[in-house]
Amino acid sequence: MNINHNSLLKLVVLFFVIIYSIPLHSDSTADPILTGDAGRGQDLFTGRLRFTNNGPSCNFCHNVSIDGVMSGGTLAKDLTQCISRLTAVGAKSFYGNTPMPMPQMQESYADKPLTKQEVEDISAFLLHADNLSKNKSASYTGGAMLFWGIGGVAFLMFVFTSLWIKRKKGTVNIDIYKRQMRSVDY
Ligand code: HEC
Repeated sequence: MNINHNSLLKLVVLFFVIIYSIPLHSDSTADPILTGDAGRGQDLFTGRLRFTNNGPSCNFCHNVSIDGVMSGGTLAKDLTQCISRLTAVGAKSFYGNTPMPMPQMQESYADKPLTKQEVEDISAFLLHADNLSKNKSASYTGGAMLFWGIGGVAFLMFVFTSLWIKRKKGTVNIDIYKRQMRSVDY
């Protein structure tokens, strides 16, 4: 009886061990979900970091104008706001598939495809650049410019008038003229 009880307990434990070791979603065939790293994407884009398969860096042909990214080539479109223009999926279709649809890119990356992780990193960087540039154009700097413009002019006028408070009034010769006029006997 005692032994039976013990083996029953073992069975129950074994049952739960088996149950919990079965994955809820069997996704062993699906790709793992990769998350892009915008920093790494930026380094890949600018060429600070080489692509695994030695493809040319994107800014060889493309420009992204955000702070801290050196300006790139002008052969192809500026990609600063390509996510807004094309959506993330649309943009990715240009560099995320092999072969790439654009002839120049197809040629350049034909036997040097980007890895899946690199594609995600580039996507993260392009999204980051897009957001940055949008925030920049959305923030209105006109008010500050006007303020410092008018303020600056007023300040300079004040400085120069105080510096020149003892400036000569009238012409340089007026004193000589007056002296001479006094000596002239009418
Ligand atoms: C050899 C030059 C070259 C390189 C390198 C290159 N591209 Fe391109 N890319 C082009 C050309 C040319 C086009 C199509 C014409 C255009 O957009 O000016 C294009 C188009 C694109 C577009 C579509 C732009 C739009 O708004 O239509 C995206 C997105 C893009 N490239 C991303 C990339 C990324 C990301 C890389 C780096 C992995 C890269 N490209 C590397 C030449 C290049």
